[in-house]
Amino acid sequence: MNITLLGAGAIGALWAIKLTQQQHNLQLWTRNSETETTLHFSELTSSTTTDNYHFNCNDPHALAASELLIVTVKAFQVITALTPLLPHLSTDCVVVIMHNGIGSQQQVQQLLPHNPIIYATTSQAAFKPTPTTIQHTGLGQTWLGAINEQAQAQSHIAGLFNAALSPSQWHTTIYQPLWQKLAINCAINPLTAINQCSNGDLAHSCYHSPLDSICFEVAQVMTAEGFSTTPQQLRHQVDTVIKATANNYSSMNRDIYHHRLTEIDYISGYLVQQAQRHHINTPVNQQLWQAIKHRESQDHE
Ligand code: PAF
Repeated sequence: MNITLLGAGAIGALWAIKLTQQQHNLQLWTRNSETETTLHFSELTSSTTTDNYHFNCNDPHALAASELLIVTVKAFQVITALTPLLPHLSTDCVVVIMHNGIGSQQQVQQLLPHNPIIYATTSQAAFKPTPTTIQHTGLGQTWLGAINEQAQAQSHIAGLFNAALSPSQWHTTIYQPLWQKLAINCAINPLTAINQCSNGDLAHSCYHSPLDSICFEVAQVMTAEGFSTTPQQLRHQVDTVIKATANNYSSMNRDIYHHRLTEIDYISGYLVQQAQRHHINTPVNQQLWQAIKHRESQDHE
Protein backbone atom coordinates (compact mmCIF):
# COMPACT_ATOMS: atom_id res chain seq x y z
CA MET A 1 0.00 0.00 0.00
CA ASN A 2 1.16 3.57 -0.64
CA ILE A 3 1.39 5.28 2.73
CA THR A 4 2.47 8.71 3.99
CA LEU A 5 3.28 9.13 7.67
CA LEU A 6 3.10 12.64 9.10
CA GLY A 7 5.02 13.14 12.37
CA ALA A 8 7.87 10.68 12.81
CA GLY A 9 8.37 11.06 16.57
CA ALA A 10 9.07 7.92 18.58
CA ILE A 11 5.67 6.26 18.01
CA GLY A 12 5.32 7.51 14.41
CA ALA A 13 8.78 6.24 13.47
CA LEU A 14 8.01 2.88 15.11
CA TRP A 15 4.94 2.46 12.88
CA ALA A 16 6.83 3.71 9.80
CA ILE A 17 9.51 1.06 10.31
CA LYS A 18 7.10 -1.75 11.19
CA LEU A 19 4.92 -1.04 8.12
CA THR A 20 8.03 -0.83 5.91
CA GLN A 21 9.04 -4.28 7.19
CA GLN A 22 5.70 -5.45 5.72
CA GLN A 23 6.81 -4.16 2.28
CA HIS A 24 4.47 -1.16 2.24
CA ASN A 25 5.65 1.80 0.22
CA LEU A 26 5.95 4.43 2.95
CA GLN A 27 7.20 8.01 2.78
CA LEU A 28 7.66 10.38 5.72
CA TRP A 29 6.25 13.90 5.82
CA THR A 30 8.55 15.99 7.99
CA ARG A 31 8.87 19.54 9.28
CA ASN A 32 11.86 20.44 7.06
CA SER A 33 12.20 20.03 3.30
CA GLU A 34 14.54 17.00 3.27
CA THR A 35 13.84 14.55 0.44
CA GLU A 36 15.23 11.49 2.19
CA THR A 37 16.33 10.29 5.60
CA THR A 38 17.70 7.18 7.28
CA LEU A 39 16.42 5.94 10.64
CA HIS A 40 18.38 3.55 12.87
CA PHE A 41 16.09 1.10 14.61
CA SER A 42 16.52 -1.42 17.40
CA GLU A 43 13.89 -4.09 17.96
CA LEU A 44 12.40 -4.82 21.36
CA THR A 45 14.31 -8.09 21.51
CA SER A 46 17.74 -6.75 20.48
CA SER A 47 18.44 -3.35 21.98
CA THR A 48 22.15 -3.55 21.05
CA THR A 49 21.69 -4.21 17.30
CA THR A 50 20.38 -1.50 14.97
CA ASP A 51 19.06 -1.79 11.41
CA ASN A 52 18.97 1.11 8.97
CA TYR A 53 15.74 2.12 7.25
CA HIS A 54 15.82 4.52 4.34
CA PHE A 55 12.77 6.72 3.66
CA ASN A 56 11.80 9.18 0.94
CA CYS A 57 10.33 12.36 2.38
CA ASN A 58 7.99 15.20 1.52
CA ASP A 59 7.13 14.21 -2.07
CA PRO A 60 3.75 15.76 -3.01
CA HIS A 61 3.29 13.21 -5.87
CA ALA A 62 3.75 10.30 -3.45
CA LEU A 63 1.30 12.03 -1.10
CA ALA A 64 -1.27 12.35 -3.91
CA ALA A 65 -0.84 8.61 -4.61
CA SER A 66 -1.18 7.67 -0.93
CA GLU A 67 -4.07 5.40 -0.02
CA LEU A 68 -3.34 5.81 3.69
CA LEU A 69 -2.15 8.84 5.66
CA ILE A 70 -1.04 8.16 9.24
CA VAL A 71 -0.88 11.24 11.46
CA THR A 72 1.22 10.80 14.61
CA VAL A 73 1.88 14.41 15.61
CA LYS A 74 0.86 15.71 19.05
CA ALA A 75 -2.83 16.48 19.59
CA PHE A 76 -2.33 20.26 19.45
CA GLN A 77 -0.35 20.01 16.19
CA VAL A 78 -2.85 17.94 14.17
CA ILE A 79 -4.67 20.77 12.37
CA THR A 80 -1.56 22.89 11.67
CA ALA A 81 0.34 19.85 10.42
CA LEU A 82 -2.50 18.50 8.25
CA THR A 83 -3.56 21.76 6.59
CA PRO A 84 -0.61 22.13 4.14
CA LEU A 85 -1.17 18.53 2.93
CA LEU A 86 -4.80 19.09 1.90
CA PRO A 87 -4.18 20.33 -1.69
CA HIS A 88 -2.37 17.04 -2.46
CA LEU A 89 -4.56 14.60 -0.56
CA SER A 90 -7.02 12.37 -2.46
CA THR A 91 -10.50 12.33 -0.90
CA ASP A 92 -10.29 8.49 -1.01
CA CYS A 93 -7.20 8.47 1.18
CA VAL A 94 -7.92 6.85 4.55
CA VAL A 95 -6.63 9.05 7.38
CA VAL A 96 -5.53 7.41 10.64
CA ILE A 97 -4.89 9.76 13.57
CA MET A 98 -3.02 8.54 16.63
CA HIS A 99 -2.22 10.81 19.56
CA ASN A 100 -2.56 10.92 23.33
CA GLY A 101 -5.73 12.54 24.62
CA ILE A 102 -9.09 13.37 23.04
CA GLY A 103 -10.41 16.54 21.46
CA SER A 104 -9.06 16.96 17.91
CA GLN A 105 -11.86 14.89 16.31
CA GLN A 106 -14.34 17.66 15.54
CA GLN A 107 -11.79 19.94 13.87
CA VAL A 108 -10.34 17.06 11.85
CA GLN A 109 -13.81 16.13 10.57
CA GLN A 110 -14.37 19.74 9.52
CA LEU A 111 -10.98 19.87 7.80
CA LEU A 112 -11.50 16.55 5.95
CA PRO A 113 -15.25 16.33 5.23
CA HIS A 114 -14.87 13.61 2.53
CA ASN A 115 -12.07 11.31 3.73
CA PRO A 116 -12.59 8.18 5.82
CA ILE A 117 -11.22 9.13 9.29
CA ILE A 118 -10.00 6.55 11.77
CA TYR A 119 -8.72 7.28 15.27
CA ALA A 120 -6.20 4.97 16.89
CA THR A 121 -4.68 4.57 20.32
CA THR A 122 -1.68 2.47 21.26
CA SER A 123 0.16 1.39 24.36
CA GLN A 124 3.23 0.34 22.33
CA ALA A 125 6.26 2.14 23.71
CA ALA A 126 9.16 3.61 21.74
CA PHE A 127 12.08 5.87 22.56
CA LYS A 128 13.87 8.29 20.24
CA PRO A 129 17.18 9.16 21.94
CA THR A 130 18.43 11.10 18.86
CA PRO A 131 16.49 12.52 15.86
CA THR A 132 17.33 9.43 13.76
CA THR A 133 17.50 6.63 16.36
CA ILE A 134 14.41 4.69 17.45
CA GLN A 135 14.11 1.91 19.99
CA HIS A 136 11.02 -0.24 20.47
CA THR A 137 10.87 -0.31 24.28
CA GLY A 138 7.56 -1.95 25.18
CA LEU A 139 4.86 -4.16 23.69
CA GLY A 140 1.30 -2.93 23.91
CA GLN A 141 -2.13 -3.04 22.36
CA THR A 142 -3.41 -0.85 19.50
CA TRP A 143 -7.07 -0.06 18.84
CA LEU A 144 -8.44 1.57 15.67
CA GLY A 145 -11.98 2.67 14.86
CA ALA A 146 -14.05 4.88 12.58
CA ILE A 147 -15.15 8.34 13.66
CA ASN A 148 -17.12 9.15 10.51
CA GLU A 149 -19.50 7.34 8.18
CA GLN A 150 -16.93 7.03 5.38
CA ALA A 151 -14.57 5.03 7.62
CA GLN A 152 -17.14 2.45 8.78
CA ALA A 153 -16.12 0.07 5.99
CA GLN A 154 -12.37 0.39 6.66
CA SER A 155 -11.91 -2.24 9.39
CA HIS A 156 -9.35 -4.02 7.16
CA ILE A 157 -6.92 -1.20 8.09
CA ALA A 158 -6.69 -2.80 11.55
CA GLY A 159 -5.46 -5.99 9.84
CA LEU A 160 -2.71 -4.03 8.14
CA PHE A 161 -1.62 -2.53 11.48
CA ASN A 162 -1.88 -5.95 13.14
CA ALA A 163 0.41 -7.54 10.56
CA ALA A 164 2.96 -4.78 11.27
CA LEU A 165 2.67 -4.71 15.06
CA SER A 166 0.40 -7.07 16.94
CA PRO A 167 -2.03 -6.95 18.69
CA SER A 168 -3.90 -4.27 16.73
CA GLN A 169 -7.69 -4.52 16.61
CA TRP A 170 -10.72 -2.76 15.19
CA HIS A 171 -13.17 -1.33 17.73
CA THR A 172 -16.71 -0.38 16.70
CA THR A 173 -16.84 2.21 19.53
CA ILE A 174 -13.37 3.73 19.35
CA TYR A 175 -14.19 6.31 22.06
CA GLN A 176 -14.19 3.48 24.64
CA PRO A 177 -10.45 2.64 24.19
CA LEU A 178 -9.69 6.36 23.67
CA TRP A 179 -11.22 7.08 27.10
CA GLN A 180 -9.40 4.14 28.66
CA LYS A 181 -6.09 5.49 27.37
CA LEU A 182 -7.14 8.99 28.52
CA ALA A 183 -7.48 7.61 32.05
CA ILE A 184 -3.95 6.17 31.88
CA ASN A 185 -2.57 9.45 30.55
CA CYS A 186 -4.47 11.51 33.19
CA ALA A 187 -2.81 9.36 35.85
CA ILE A 188 0.74 8.89 34.57
CA ASN A 189 1.60 11.92 32.45
CA PRO A 190 1.12 14.97 34.73
CA LEU A 191 2.51 13.24 37.85
CA THR A 192 5.67 12.05 36.05
CA ALA A 193 6.06 15.47 34.40
CA ILE A 194 5.66 17.56 37.58
CA ASN A 195 7.89 15.27 39.65
CA GLN A 196 10.30 14.55 36.77
CA CYS A 197 10.26 10.86 37.64
CA SER A 198 10.00 7.64 35.63
CA ASN A 199 6.70 5.81 35.15
CA GLY A 200 7.92 3.10 37.53
CA ASP A 201 8.47 5.65 40.33
CA LEU A 202 4.67 6.06 40.52
CA ALA A 203 4.53 2.63 42.21
CA HIS A 204 5.89 4.28 45.41
CA SER A 205 3.32 4.60 48.19
CA CYS A 206 3.40 8.44 48.12
CA TYR A 207 1.58 8.29 44.75
CA HIS A 208 -1.18 5.88 45.86
CA SER A 209 -3.54 8.60 47.06
CA PRO A 210 -3.28 10.94 44.01
CA LEU A 211 -3.56 7.95 41.62
CA ASP A 212 -6.66 6.69 43.46
CA SER A 213 -8.25 10.16 43.28
CA ILE A 214 -7.46 10.60 39.56
CA CYS A 215 -8.99 7.20 38.74
CA PHE A 216 -12.05 7.94 40.88
CA GLU A 217 -12.65 11.25 39.07
CA VAL A 218 -12.07 9.81 35.58
CA ALA A 219 -14.37 6.83 36.29
CA GLN A 220 -17.18 9.22 37.27
CA VAL A 221 -16.83 11.21 34.04
CA MET A 222 -16.48 8.08 31.87
CA THR A 223 -19.64 6.64 33.41
CA ALA A 224 -21.50 9.92 32.78
CA GLU A 225 -20.29 9.76 29.15
CA GLY A 226 -21.84 6.29 28.86
CA PHE A 227 -18.72 4.10 29.08
CA SER A 228 -18.80 1.32 31.64
CA THR A 229 -15.88 1.32 34.09
CA THR A 230 -15.06 1.54 37.79
CA PRO A 231 -12.31 3.40 39.70
CA GLN A 232 -10.83 -0.02 40.59
CA GLN A 233 -10.69 -1.13 36.95
CA LEU A 234 -8.96 2.09 35.89
CA ARG A 235 -6.54 1.89 38.82
CA HIS A 236 -5.67 -1.69 37.82
CA GLN A 237 -5.03 -0.61 34.20
CA VAL A 238 -2.86 2.29 35.39
CA ASP A 239 -0.85 -0.07 37.61
CA THR A 240 -0.37 -2.46 34.70
CA VAL A 241 1.03 0.33 32.49
CA ILE A 242 3.22 1.64 35.34
CA LYS A 243 4.74 -1.85 35.67
CA ALA A 244 5.02 -2.50 31.91
CA THR A 245 6.73 0.86 31.26
CA ALA A 246 8.57 1.18 34.60
CA ASN A 247 11.86 2.33 33.07
CA ASN A 248 10.26 4.77 30.61
CA TYR A 249 9.80 8.49 30.95
CA SER A 250 6.32 9.52 29.83
CA SER A 251 5.88 11.78 26.81
CA MET A 252 4.80 14.66 29.09
CA ASN A 253 7.80 14.12 31.33
CA ARG A 254 10.01 14.54 28.23
CA ASP A 255 8.04 17.57 26.99
CA ILE A 256 8.45 19.40 30.30
CA TYR A 257 12.11 18.34 30.52
CA HIS A 258 12.79 19.76 27.04
CA HIS A 259 10.64 22.90 27.69
CA ARG A 260 8.15 21.92 24.98
CA LEU A 261 4.38 22.38 24.94
CA THR A 262 2.50 19.36 26.32
CA GLU A 263 -0.76 17.59 25.43
CA ILE A 264 -2.26 18.48 28.85
CA ASP A 265 -5.25 20.37 27.32
CA TYR A 266 -6.23 17.15 25.50
CA ILE A 267 -5.67 14.95 28.59
CA SER A 268 -6.51 16.45 32.03
CA GLY A 269 -7.96 19.56 30.34
CA TYR A 270 -10.35 17.49 28.20
CA LEU A 271 -11.37 15.45 31.26
CA VAL A 272 -12.13 18.57 33.33
CA GLN A 273 -14.15 20.15 30.50
CA GLN A 274 -16.28 17.02 30.05
CA ALA A 275 -16.70 16.81 33.85
CA GLN A 276 -18.02 20.39 33.90
CA ARG A 277 -20.67 19.48 31.29
CA HIS A 278 -21.88 16.76 33.67
CA HIS A 279 -21.52 18.95 36.82
CA ILE A 280 -18.92 16.57 38.26
CA ASN A 281 -16.12 17.88 40.46
CA THR A 282 -12.63 16.80 39.44
CA PRO A 283 -10.37 18.79 41.81
CA VAL A 284 -7.28 16.58 41.49
CA ASN A 285 -7.28 16.52 37.69
CA GLN A 286 -8.07 20.26 37.67
CA GLN A 287 -5.08 20.96 39.90
CA LEU A 288 -2.74 18.83 37.74
CA TRP A 289 -3.99 20.57 34.59
CA GLN A 290 -3.26 23.99 36.15
CA ALA A 291 0.15 22.88 37.45
CA ILE A 292 1.28 21.79 33.96
CA LYS A 293 -0.19 24.96 32.38
CA HIS A 294 1.81 26.97 34.90
CA ARG A 295 5.05 25.11 33.98
CA GLU A 296 4.32 25.66 30.27
CA SER A 297 3.70 29.39 30.78
CA GLN A 298 7.04 29.74 32.63
CA ASP A 299 8.79 28.06 29.69
CA HIS A 300 6.98 30.05 26.97
CA GLU A 301 6.80 33.58 28.41
O1 PAF B 1 2.37 9.37 26.94
C1 PAF B 1 3.02 8.35 27.24
O2 PAF B 1 4.20 8.39 27.57
C2 PAF B 1 2.33 7.00 27.12
O3 PAF B 1 1.06 7.20 26.56
C3 PAF B 1 2.23 6.22 28.43
C4 PAF B 1 1.24 5.09 28.25
C5 PAF B 1 1.81 7.09 29.59
C6 PAF B 1 3.52 5.51 28.77
O4 PAF B 1 4.59 6.34 29.03
